[in-house]
Amino acid sequence: MNNRILIFDTTLRDGEQSPGSSMNIQEKLEVAQQLKRLNADIIEAGFPIASDGDFEAVREVASTVKGVTIAGLARTGKADVERAYEALKPADRPRIHVFVATSDIHLKAKLKKTREEVVQMTGESVALARKLVDDVEFSAEDATRSDPDYLVKVFQTAIDAGATTINIPDTVGYTIPEEYTKLIEYIRSRIRAPGQLVISVHCHNDLGLAVANSLAAIRAGARQVECTINGIGERAGNASLEEIVMALRVRKDFFTYQSDIVTEQIYPSSRLLSQITGISVQPNKAIVGSNAFAHEAGIHQDGVLKEKLTYEIMTPQSIGLPSNMLVLGKHSGRHAFRERVKTLGYELTDAQIDTAFIVFKQIADKKKEVYDEDIEAIIADRVLKWAEKYRLESVNISSGTDILPTATVRISMEGNAVTESGSGDGPVDAVYKTIASITKTKSRLSRYQVNAITGGTDAQGEVMVRIEEDGHMVSGTGSDTDIIVASAKAYVNGLNKLEHKKTSRIKGF
Ligand code: KIV
Ligand code: ZN
Repeated sequence: MNNRILIFDTTLRDGEQSPGSSMNIQEKLEVAQQLKRLNADIIEAGFPIASDGDFEAVREVASTVKGVTIAGLARTGKADVERAYEALKPADRPRIHVFVATSDIHLKAKLKKTREEVVQMTGESVALARKLVDDVEFSAEDATRSDPDYLVKVFQTAIDAGATTINIPDTVGYTIPEEYTKLIEYIRSRIRAPGQLVISVHCHNDLGLAVANSLAAIRAGARQVECTINGIGERAGNASLEEIVMALRVRKDFFTYQSDIVTEQIYPSSRLLSQITGISVQPNKAIVGSNAFAHEAGIHQDGVLKEKLTYEIMTPQSIGLPSNMLVLGKHSGRHAFRERVKTLGYELTDAQIDTAFIVFKQIADKKKEVYDEDIEAIIADRVLKWAEKYRLESVNISSGTDILPTATVRISMEGNAVTESGSGDGPVDAVYKTIASITKTKSRLSRYQVNAITGGTDAQGEVMVRIEEDGHMVSGTGSDTDIIVASAKAYVNGLNKLEHKKTSRIKGF
């Protein structure tokens, strides 16, 4: 058995299903291009039948990102499989990923199907997918809560119908490493399969065990792991790509397996994703958290200064953490700016560089030093935004210790500009109430968070909001040297995302 582990990245599909992290096509393309630089083996670009937006995104990724396998998800059923195929047609290496639930609870409560019916649906859909493409993955959703003998039957049906990869997901993050190991060994010992069949695993993190379970699965014979950047995904998230890959690399003495991931692209991938989704990484997150390489205790600092290996099991360079975050200032030219943007992992067109460079110059005039994070914020704020229904034209406030905070906001909505004034408990409240009145939104603001992107009082403020309506949840981001303006931008960005979400996805996804 070979020792190479295939990395199947599902940031753009399962990751995008995580609360508040929807991405538009342009944003998905940026992430997909970064995943290519990271050298992921398979990029799951979306769920084509879920919405027209998902279909377009998969098609765009399949047309643009070459030399890598692009997967599209499909439920069992002709319409799903054919829609996935249509979206994947331009890919160099298309993979249709068919799934159906196999646990009794899902069969009875969700699918309302018998075990026999699910076996039949599996066989028919995998056979259809295999007629269309050479590479077909089959997943048994909720496998870890399914009857193992029934699982073997479903997997055997999928293999006989032409599946080239079978995936054993821990959909609800329920299993533990020893149990998962036994399940995988049991399935492997019972199925009859051609030598090249790949066993895959896909773990969720509800009990915080997604990475541990994935690593146990590799030792039990899995040769593909499904994971996401920063571990984003449904509920508590998916197994984190960076943790799995670095565990294999740092503990190669123990695992003896290797992935082809370019680990120096891990940090740029993590930053890009959190910029785009507005979901920041917790400071103590393994590998990519801001404290992951920070040594606070004097005794640790002393040790690291004498010999890094005393308290560091991997180097910051090995994950691509830049040692010098300070980059540009107001005298920097367009060429230097473009080069820096490239190093940060973005591939922008000339027109996009022009837009970003103008904003960079404005910020450089206000601030002495422009950091990587400022540039990332400019790109997220000005270049990668959604096709917008609402556009913030201007915002002005008056506020202080002795006056009622008031805001005047101008927003254009599909071409028509509307200006209104309103008051509130503070300047942000006044701005938000006025925006809500102009847009007539029924949404509820459930989170408001402001961060200084870099140090100093001249830092750009980055605001992240979360808004909800009718079970839809999105996050909006905005940045500016003025935090009231950043707040307005974040709210308007969130409202645009909400509009998109309300009109796109099919129910249940
Ligand atoms: O968690 C899960 O079971 C999934 C499948 C569609 C693979 O995401
Ligand atoms: Zn999943």
